[in-house]
Amino acid sequence: MKAVVFSEYGPPQVLHVAEVATPVPKAREVLIRIHATSVNFGDMVVRNFKAITPSKFHMPMLFWLIGRVTFGLRRPRVHVLGSEFAGEIVSVGSRVTLFKPGDQVFGYRGPRMGAYAEYLCMPERGVVTAKPANLSFAEAAAVPYGALMALSMLRKLDLQPGQRVLVNGASGGIGPSLVQLARSHFHADVTGVCSTARLGYVRALGADTVIDYTKEDFTASGQTYDVIIDVLGRTPFARSKRALRPKGRCLLVSFKAKHVFQMLWTSLFGDKRLICAMSSETQDDLRLIKVLVEAGTLTPIVDRCFPLEEAAEAHRYVEAGQRRGSVVLVGGT
Ligand SMILES: NC(=O)c1ccc[n+]([C@@H]2O[C@H](COP(=O)([O-])OP(=O)(O)OC[C@H]3O[C@@H](n4cnc5c(N)ncnc54)[C@H](OP(=O)(O)O)[C@@H]3O)[C@@H](O)[C@H]2O)c1
Repeated sequence: MKAVVFSEYGPPQVLHVAEVATPVPKAREVLIRIHATSVNFGDMVVRNFKAITPSKFHMPMLFWLIGRVTFGLRRPRVHVLGSEFAGEIVSVGSRVTLFKPGDQVFGYRGPRMGAYAEYLCMPERGVVTAKPANLSFAEAAAVPYGALMALSMLRKLDLQPGQRVLVNGASGGIGPSLVQLARSHFHADVTGVCSTARLGYVRALGADTVIDYTKEDFTASGQTYDVIIDVLGRTPFARSKRALRPKGRCLLVSFKAKHVFQMLWTSLFGDKRLICAMSSETQDDLRLIKVLVEAGTLTPIVDRCFPLEEAAEAHRYVEAGQRRGSVVLVGGT
């Protein structure tokens, strides 16, 4: 089969098309023909992992070490990127009961990646389920990563209707799902923070208020929130705290070891708490996301589609930082 592979870490041009062996499903696996996969944060990091020093990495040093060992120290060990996908089941293993050939599905591979290819095997109990009926393959491929992360993060917060939530980093891979789910599923009042170019995009996602981080510091505006979700963890807690209401919580999607100590400290002594959150993804979560998408609670926005063969161009486009929505690779048909 055709796949986009890379054998050296580096800039987008390390990605190239090659012929690789088509995977064969094991007894409890399904073989999926990939119609669309997206370009997300993880793909960009793994493609150039050698250049990502611990200080540039947004998570604790231990995670960086695990990442380097998993993905390869000097050269990539994972040769095909792509963690989220939409496609059609072409064959199933002898003991598969949940799926049959012809089923249209979408799913999430996480760090196992491998979706920049024509075919992919998934365990039938993995994070894969029927594609939302109201979405194209390209739209469906843009859903899993952001929606699964956002759902997992929001669940840790026990949000109440009417609470004020600020999403710092509302326009990237996870932020749009945080904004939409907080607003339409948890019925919170949502403020989205992003750069100037993406204010309209975040407003269109349903944010009640938008703030341009290049012009305004949300911690100095006098506005206060019940919850602040900081996707990149760029704002020190000492500053976020000023914008938190009494008993307010600041959830970091990206954090360093020092934040874990701050979390322990604030859980013991603080009125305002810091939470370092790790995501978890399940097939049940993806099923719920399908329902939310079909109900119109969650709507993916695709900025641009590229043919799978133009993955390098798609990575360049994402790196240029102009996208307003997901960038999707389509192909394998
Ligand atoms: N805890 C976990 O389990 C977990 C799981 C997955 C990912 N993560 C972490 O999540 C992060 C990736 O999230 P993502 O996919 O949403 O990233 P992304 O697509 O790169 O989006 C980053 C967002 O941050 C905004 N931003 C950039 N600079 C900012 C600043 N100075 N102030 C405020 N906002 C700023 C961007 O806004 P503009 O584009 O408008 O500039 C954009 O909205 C990574 O750090 C990753 O390690 C954590």
